[in-house]
Amino acid sequence: MKFNKGSLITSSLLVVSTLFAQVCSLDLDLNDPKSLVNATSLVAYGLMDYYTGDQYGKTVGMFSDPYYWWEAGGAWGSMIDYWWFMQNDTYNDKIMAAMLHQVGEHNNYIPLNQSTTEGNDDQAFWGIAAMTAAERNFPNPPEDQPQWLYLAQAVFNTMALRWDADSCGGGLRWQIFTWNTGYDYKNTVSNGALFHMAARLARFTGNSSYVDWAERVWDWMESVSVISNGTYMFVYDGVTATDNCSTVTTYQWSYNQGLLLAGSAFLYNHTKSDVWHERAKKLLNASQVFFNSSTGIMYEAACQPSLTCNTDQRSFKAYFSRFLGLTASLVPETSDQIMKWLNTSAKAAAKACSGGTDGHTCGLNWFTGSWDGMYGLGEQMAALECMINTRALERPGPYTAQNGGTSKGDPAAGTEAYPTNLAALHITKGSRAGAGIITAIIGISIIACALWLVF
Ligand SMILES: *[C@@H]1O[C@H](CO)[C@@H](O)[C@H](O)[C@H]1NC(C)=O
Ligand SMILES: *[C@@H]1O[C@H](CO)[C@@H](O)[C@H](O)[C@H]1NC(C)=O
Ligand SMILES: *[C@@H]1O[C@H](CO)[C@@H](O)[C@H](O)[C@H]1NC(C)=O
Ligand SMILES: *[C@@H]1O[C@H](CO)[C@@H](O)[C@H](O)[C@H]1NC(C)=O
Ligand SMILES: *[C@@H]1O[C@H](CO)[C@@H](O)[C@H](O)[C@H]1NC(C)=O
Ligand SMILES: *[C@@H]1O[C@H](CO)[C@@H](O)[C@H](O)[C@H]1NC(C)=O
Ligand SMILES: *[C@@H]1O[C@H](CO)[C@@H](O)[C@H](O)[C@H]1NC(C)=O
Ligand SMILES: *[C@@H]1O[C@H](CO)[C@@H](O)[C@H](O)[C@H]1NC(C)=O
Ligand SMILES: *[C@@H]1O[C@H](CO)[C@@H](O)[C@H](O)[C@H]1NC(C)=O
Ligand SMILES: *[C@@H]1O[C@H](CO)[C@@H](O)[C@H](O)[C@H]1NC(C)=O
Repeated sequence: MKFNKGSLITSSLLVVSTLFAQVCSLDLDLNDPKSLVNATSLVAYGLMDYYTGDQYGKTVGMFSDPYYWWEAGGAWGSMIDYWWFMQNDTYNDKIMAAMLHQVGEHNNYIPLNQSTTEGNDDQAFWGIAAMTAAERNFPNPPEDQPQWLYLAQAVFNTMALRWDADSCGGGLRWQIFTWNTGYDYKNTVSNGALFHMAARLARFTGNSSYVDWAERVWDWMESVSVISNGTYMFVYDGVTATDNCSTVTTYQWSYNQGLLLAGSAFLYNHTKSDVWHERAKKLLNASQVFFNSSTGIMYEAACQPSLTCNTDQRSFKAYFSRFLGLTASLVPETSDQIMKWLNTSAKAAAKACSGGTDGHTCGLNWFTGSWDGMYGLGEQMAALECMINTRALERPGPYTAQNGGTSKGDPAAGTEAYPTNLAALHITKGSRAGAGIITAIIGISIIACALWLVF
């Protein structure tokens, strides 16, 4: 995830497009299954409007500018969820093609032409989509192609190999490559995603090594206080590696809370341990910061009220909704609270999907009862995931290798000695020059964003 050059252009477009807002909203009646089917098929269609990968000259698996590669991984995860919850296989061929085209040269979701910008978190969102495909029994790829479980294990293994015990007593750095801005930051989404993948692989495979890894990552995150240990179990953004991880950046993002919540839910469901049960319940309780206290409608508290959510952040409620749905199905004691939140938010999100020339473009703010003039892949994904996850208890829980999951894996996937699988890649002269340019561009866009905020 990065600072986004596109946000300046996007925000000027918004002003224009608001003028074209239409007054017809999707009214979601959760007691009428047909209503959810109709509404979500329109929203899913709208999501796929941003997909250009099957057009001439474009890359299979990628969405149009300004969506980074990582968000495509997030979006395919949402489309797998759409297929699963709504039992609509219209897009399955596109999903399969996209997920397989982007596996990269070594079947680990590090395609070389993304490697200059790819961080641990970016890789993880593709890994999570592959894990979901395994747990939902999404059709398996042809035998000569890498399988879903294999891909999830390759992502987990390559991330685990980057565990950095040389500073702060452990943790993953944000970036894979030393030249990228953010290499000195140990962020929660990278570590939370490693924890989350470990939890899901533990439950799917039954291999206790993954439980050990989940515990290692959790303990480290607690030790540097990105998980708060007070009245509420809040999850913070990350820590700087340069001062022994003693400075916590305290932004709270819904997807980080969700990664740890659902990870704890998988671990509880698998181990039946009280420790994970308590953690899941505490993380859920603290999740209330992402719901309006009077209406119960979900929002991205750190940026939505101030209108500063960048392109990446606009998709966070999608993953949060997904992780809430998983938690409800894995930890029965959480389901009442979660379904209340999801049902309320889904109805509000549907009302916010009434924009654009198609009349069902989704906005960012779900509080208003209508479209707020924002639009984009993230907005579309968030509304879709929130709406379909109202079915979390009506569909079977995630499968495991013991109860119906058919995907084949390999515990050693991704451990071959390719450069991208190792801790920090050594920089050659040429790549350093390229990296300098990228850093400069990111630097300029930070300044641009800052100026935009000031004015
Ligand atoms: C769903 O869509 C179908 C076909 O467009 C329509 O006939 C039906 O009335 C819709 N049902 C609901 C509940 O919106
Ligand atoms: C499945 O989704 C597609 C595209 O969103 C839609 O056109 C179609 O009507 C949906 N089918 C059903 C049965 O809902
Ligand atoms: C990147 O590499 C993939 C193969 O991994 C290729 O299909 C694609 O065209 C390349 N270019 C871009 C811009 O993604
Ligand atoms: C750095 O932090 C780790 C973990 O919090 C701690 O165990 C270690 O003692 C610290 N080292 C120094 C030099 O402060
Ligand atoms: C968190 O609080 C509990 C209970 O007060 C305590 O047992 C535990 O050691 C604390 N953990 C950390 C990492 O401070
Ligand atoms: C959430 O935690 C607060 C503070 O400990 C507590 O007062 C409240 O009862 C909890 N709510 C739920 C639903 O567990
Ligand atoms: C919660 O919703 C109410 C009613 O829409 C609104 O007035 C209030 O500003 C919202 N609170 C926050 C923190 O956004
Ligand atoms: C949420 O909506 C579903 C229908 O989609 C319903 O079965 C469930 O009882 C509702 N739950 C709550 C807590 O409102
Ligand atoms: C684990 O999840 C499954 C699938 O949703 C559920 O049926 C089961 O009750 C859960 N187990 C526990 C111990 O809560
Ligand atoms: C369990 O996972 C570990 C770590 O990925 C691996 O080394 C080991 O071979 C696996 N064990 C089995 C029985 O698959």
